[in-house]
Amino acid sequence: MSWLRLVLFVAVPFMGSLLYALEAPSVNYDESKVPAYTLPDPLVCEDGTVVRDAATWMQKRRPELLQLFQTHVYGRSPGRPADLSFVLKSRDDNALGGKAVRKEVRIHFSAKKDEGPGMDLLIYLPKEAPRPVPVFLGLNFRGNHAVHPDPAISIPTSWMRPGEGVVNNRATEAGRGTAASRWPIEMVLEHGYGVATAYYGDIDPDFDDGFQNGVHPLFYKEGQTRPAPDEWGSIGAWAWGLSRAMDYFETDDDIDEKRVAVLGHSRLGKTALWAGAQDERFAIVISNNSGCGGAALSRRRFGETVARINTSFPHWFCDNFKKYNNNEDALPVDQHELIALIAPRPVYIASATEDLWADPRGEFLAAKGADPVYKLLGTEGLPVEDMPPPDQPVMGRIGYHLRTGKHDITAYDWEQYIKFADKHFGRTTSKVE
Ligand code: GCU
Repeated sequence: MSWLRLVLFVAVPFMGSLLYALEAPSVNYDESKVPAYTLPDPLVCEDGTVVRDAATWMQKRRPELLQLFQTHVYGRSPGRPADLSFVLKSRDDNALGGKAVRKEVRIHFSAKKDEGPGMDLLIYLPKEAPRPVPVFLGLNFRGNHAVHPDPAISIPTSWMRPGEGVVNNRATEAGRGTAASRWPIEMVLEHGYGVATAYYGDIDPDFDDGFQNGVHPLFYKEGQTRPAPDEWGSIGAWAWGLSRAMDYFETDDDIDEKRVAVLGHSRLGKTALWAGAQDERFAIVISNNSGCGGAALSRRRFGETVARINTSFPHWFCDNFKKYNNNEDALPVDQHELIALIAPRPVYIASATEDLWADPRGEFLAAKGADPVYKLLGTEGLPVEDMPPPDQPVMGRIGYHLRTGKHDITAYDWEQYIKFADKHFGRTTSKVE
């Protein structure tokens, strides 16, 4: 062992990631160095059966792929808990200067309401729009109070990563509105859509604690202390939380649960895809800059790789996924098949020019790789052969754009999502030009 390794072992916490960073091959951002690879064919079953019709896809190949993603990538999740309950905590019919109805709903995951964990859903609905309204649903990174300066939004009490307005890992007043650029709520409401969001840390705090906090322990069997290698990690838990929000929508007459678009940025984009893949109640699925373990093809090894993500974030995926560190070709699936699981429902994949870590081309190619399944199911799929230039969105049943700029979710991205939802929900009244 070199002296450097020794010092790191003794002195540095998180030494696994550090050693990996020091010793790992450097990140590849060079298209010419992408290795040759063969993608698994979404339309060929494990037993070699070629999928030639919708029934074989729906009854054989789709369930098989879902199971492969559960076993090898995200882990199996439980279903809806028997004791799930919803409590309306606040309601204001004159929110945002009279433009909106704001509701806060506490979703209790178990009968032990005081012990938690539970999730606070913040909902804004356009006041004037006819009921029930379609809704965009997404988790947020920094707390519900960060999505808008509205002083009436409750401050979350769950653990929070250090950041603006966070003191001792708890949110404070100073965090209000700090993520507002990512949530253009008024714009969405003007187009007749509601917005619903919850803080992802309410479901499972985003750090590796061996799954002692968050929702996982609620489902441990007698004597179990952490998820089995094929059981859910944090992304699985966050996606599960999105399905619990959908459970609530089914009880709220103001919301059209048949027209819910689930979306997310980055790790929460990975989460939105996995939620949409599993839960067919989501009518539209939107991935914003989701990258590795989201929309980007793992086999390209461009930007973030399976080994890097599993080292930096060992709690995101199931333990089995670690078998594919530097071993991507052995994966029985790749991420184009995650997108295909959403078919024939509309799905939108968005990249950004400067977000090379998330491999924009790999995201486009995954969207294109799902196209044969969309076509088999009688839709137009992604109606373009080559990756479109920046800022020229393509909107078939699969949508794609490459926004100029950084890793982020912006008003430009949202404008495209509204247009996409208008198209697929058959809405002509919306006003985005
Ligand atoms: C890191 C991580 C990505 C993730 C991103 C985010 O960059 O490597 O996989 O998408 O964080 O969630 O912001």
